[in-house]
Amino acid sequence: MKHSIVICMGSSCFARGNKKNLALIEEYLRKNQIDCQLTGRGCAGKCRSGPNIRIDGVDYERVDAETLIDLLDSKLKGSLP
Ligand code: FES
Repeated sequence: MKHSIVICMGSSCFARGNKKNLALIEEYLRKNQIDCQLTGRGCAGKCRSGPNIRIDGVDYERVDAETLIDLLDSKLKGSLP
């Protein structure tokens, strides 16, 4: 299945971590050769809970670099049913 990631590129999320998260996601997808559509979006109106990232239609809040890698492992690698 092709995955999708939507990352908030609004100024608040971007400054609070999504700048780094974006680079991590790009590197992760390339390294693991995962078929995933990665898109950016403008402010989602949830800056207070940012940085916000949506993976396969599910929103995740306050995503830092550490939780991001755990999330990508569990959502994209598909080891769990
Ligand atoms: S900048 Fe991401 S929700 Fe506002």
